[in-house]
Amino acid sequence: YGCSTCKSADKPLEGYIASLPMETSHHRVESQSTKCGFGLQGVCCRLCSNGPCRITPKAPRGICGATADVIVTRNFLRAVAAGSGCYIHIVENTALNVLKTAQAKGEIKGEKALEHLAEKLGVTGKDKYEKAEKVAKAVLEDLYKPEYEKMALVEKLAYAPRFQRWQELGILPGGAKGEVFHGVVKCSTNLNSDPVDMLTDCLKLGISTGLYGLTLTNLLNDVLLGEPELRMAPVGLRVVDPDYINIMITGHQHTIFVDLQEKLRSPEAVAKAQAAGAKGFKLVGCTCVGQDLQLRGAHYADIFEGHAGNNYTSEAVLATGGIDAVLSEFNCTLPGIEPICEELMIKQICLDDVAKKANAEMKPFVFEKREEQSQEIIDEIIEAYKARRGKVQMNLFPEHGNDDTLTGVSEGSLKEFLGGNWKPLIDLIVAGEIKGIAGVVGCSNLTAGGHDVLSVELTKELIAKDILVLTAGCSSGGIENCGLMEPEAAKLAGPKLRAVCEKLNIPPVLNFGPCLAIGRLEIVATELAEAIGVDMPQLPLVLSAAQWLEEQALADGCFGLALGLPLHLGLPPFVTGSKLVTKVLTEDMKQLTGGQVIINGDAKESADILEKIILEKRQGLNI
Ligand code: SF4
Ligand code: FE2
Repeated sequence: YGCSTCKSADKPLEGYIASLPMETSHHRVESQSTKCGFGLQGVCCRLCSNGPCRITPKAPRGICGATADVIVTRNFLRAVAAGSGCYIHIVENTALNVLKTAQAKGEIKGEKALEHLAEKLGVTGKDKYEKAEKVAKAVLEDLYKPEYEKMALVEKLAYAPRFQRWQELGILPGGAKGEVFHGVVKCSTNLNSDPVDMLTDCLKLGISTGLYGLTLTNLLNDVLLGEPELRMAPVGLRVVDPDYINIMITGHQHTIFVDLQEKLRSPEAVAKAQAAGAKGFKLVGCTCVGQDLQLRGAHYADIFEGHAGNNYTSEAVLATGGIDAVLSEFNCTLPGIEPICEELMIKQICLDDVAKKANAEMKPFVFEKREEQSQEIIDEIIEAYKARRGKVQMNLFPEHGNDDTLTGVSEGSLKEFLGGNWKPLIDLIVAGEIKGIAGVVGCSNLTAGGHDVLSVELTKELIAKDILVLTAGCSSGGIENCGLMEPEAAKLAGPKLRAVCEKLNIPPVLNFGPCLAIGRLEIVATELAEAIGVDMPQLPLVLSAAQWLEEQALADGCFGLALGLPLHLGLPPFVTGSKLVTKVLTEDMKQLTGGQVIINGDAKESADILEKIILEKRQGLNI
């Protein structure tokens, strides 16, 4: 299975994948390299049986009369609604798990986080359980409101000047699930033909996705799983230790396996593992849920081996042969892992029925049955371990990755590190020691020059310009495996940022963890804006989802636009077939929310554009 076209920013990983005896996503890039030009531009419609209709200069309308603008916006809104639905599913499950834990008087690891969240939402209670219950109920009530009833927590969660702007623009969202439903209905055949009206829905979906699916999911996770704490940790394929029974986790819903996580570290489970010939159990992080566990690694040092890699590293993690089971509960769990699991006798268990893998065991998480489910899962994984070890060849890669990645960065831990407030960071920005901040967020894909190539190259360019980079999403997994989150990476930064990093002994790229943590970046931005006394679009802060992948990323992107932030994308989101939509997103949005989309696939050019925006914003602030 040699692979001459496999490309990753992570050269050791690229070599490892090319040498594998099995096919991975990287190998399939070549056979899918001829792209459909209509699809790329978003001008293919197959909403009805007259189609598929494809727009060309000679055929500017579909049979029904739909123009390129209509077809592009319908496709875009569909994608944003689906992406929003995914995040709302995550926050719904998370809130339900907080609610049920509170009612069962289960463990609340993050009491400070609960206090903080209760205060933010204006919730009181006689004890932590009542508070947690009321917090969860407030979130769920909002999610379940119909589309025509505005959500109550938006005003409490959003920065006041932003809320006001959203109100003026008429984009305050109704119930989050209702908005998804409304969006899906709106873009069916022969209903809506007003692109601007449909783009308005995208902004509403962006706000509900961002404030609930992103921000609140993190804050609820903190309540059940404990708050992030700064620590150094190993990353990469090196974290697979064959002496243990290794369970790779993929997905986005950490609260689904709270009980299992605790049981795996219990003396009873360790004794069972030892009886089977292993030292114990280890969770191996993969994709966003792995990032979430890594973020909280300080609380789980005994059970968590480390974060191995992102979505398009997952096949390689399995190919090491050291993984005995995959626990998956949501997306970024590639179908491509299925044949590899089959071949290497790796047990697959799915914990959420929206994400049933074809050859996996389905065990949808039921809170009331959590204890027996955890027990069953542990026993099944031990059986898998016994059945496969010794029979399956190992192809470990202990040299891959590094041991010194700074993890556990959050709005809370970073502020604490700075002395309890943002003043030191603001001072550094004002003094020009840090030119500005860039959030390099979102996924990884295999198209923008290869796996993590654009994200890593752009990050290098930005830090060289003295721009501090904060990451969230699968991009984090690639950037950390490439060593940019080691304090030593300071030497890759420009002279000013380098001096700051060396003084504080931090890397120039700070890892906030999963894509959900884009919500944490929103909190940082809000608190910075508040401290300076400006609105968010005035901050020298830019976002880049350089290697955005999924529909969810498009919903996140709409949140960024609603916040009024410049948003760079390495690949266009299938909209360039409509001049109108492209213009609204890249130009007109500046007058509406303050945000703008920048599309550029070249790392150097993109960094120059983002730097120019940061310099303009600095000028606007007179700094
Ligand atoms: Fe063609 Fe209109 Fe049908 Fe789309 S909805 S396939 S543009 S006729
Ligand atoms: Fe993610």
